[in-house]
Amino acid sequence: MTNIIIAIDGYSSTGKGTFAVEIARRLGLLYLDSGALYRTVTLYALQHGQIEWNGEILERRLQEDMLLGRIEISVLPKDDGSMRIFLGGEEVSAKIRELDVARNVSAIATIPFVRNFVDEQLHRLGAKGCVMDGRDIGTAVFPNADLKIFMTADAEIRAWRRVRQMEEAGQHPRFEEILKNVQERDYIDSHRAMNPLRKADDAIVLDNSHMTVAEQMVWLDGILRERFNLSVL
Ligand code: DC
Repeated sequence: MTNIIIAIDGYSSTGKGTFAVEIARRLGLLYLDSGALYRTVTLYALQHGQIEWNGEILERRLQEDMLLGRIEISVLPKDDGSMRIFLGGEEVSAKIRELDVARNVSAIATIPFVRNFVDEQLHRLGAKGCVMDGRDIGTAVFPNADLKIFMTADAEIRAWRRVRQMEEAGQHPRFEEILKNVQERDYIDSHRAMNPLRKADDAIVLDNSHMTVAEQMVWLDGILRERFNLSVL
């Protein structure tokens, strides 16, 4: 058992979640998916009529609910290393993956008071040690993390990975559309005014364009052995 903080940031569809969950499971650390918290705030806003049909967010009402402590988020680890997430005591792990949340979460995640709120929650949940993935963990949430990894991969390869995932789920996406979406998300994530996606100066880059998860584990193992005398193999 260890209590280090590992921050994993990077572009969308680079496999941050898969990698982070596997590390957490192997090291017996808590896995925290920061994107899931932004999604849970988005779900709350949708459930409380704070997002209009045209996507406009009723920020004052959302902020008031935050200040009054009405948005209660908690998490529980699963045996496979992943996490369950709860809103006001109700499990919302599946609901936060639905399309209406996906459509609105980028806009919610640009609001400064939302980012502050999520940062506070992440600190509360992860301060005793965790593997946390997101966009600004090593730069803003835990700038003193024990280890920072910045994940990247070719946009086309990421788009193909998403196409395959969607096909496995019975969908028939067009590669060009998925690639465009990947590129748009990269742009939004790295051009946001507050805490945009960028590599922390002391982060180690992992380009997994041509690597399997097993190969990424071998790569990580070398670093963990050298720095912390820990192993994930
Ligand atoms: O990783 P994801 O798709 O679940 O993230 C959902 C949204 O939250 C996405 O728009 C990026 C944003 N996000 C963020 O701004 N900062 C983080 N640390 C994590 C996610």
